[in-house]
Amino acid sequence: MSAEPQEVDDSPYCCCSAATFQEILERQRANPLPFMELIMVHAGCGSGCGSCISDLEAYLKAHDAYIED
Ligand code: FES
Repeated sequence: MSAEPQEVDDSPYCCCSAATFQEILERQRANPLPFMELIMVHAGCGSGCGSCISDLEAYLKAHDAYIED
């Protein structure tokens, strides 16, 4: 029996990006962009409903991945 802790992605899901915040965070870490570019390139929020933008901004800030425009 393995007691390996599984990394569970329980971050919010952005339908417009078809990605979780954690997936967007990983893209941001691989290729850091200012927030406005991030929501066009790493996420679909820029052309989507926009309803999760402020939550995504807070999530990135909490994970030290937010770059001011
Ligand atoms: S659900 Fe994230 S921008 Fe629409």
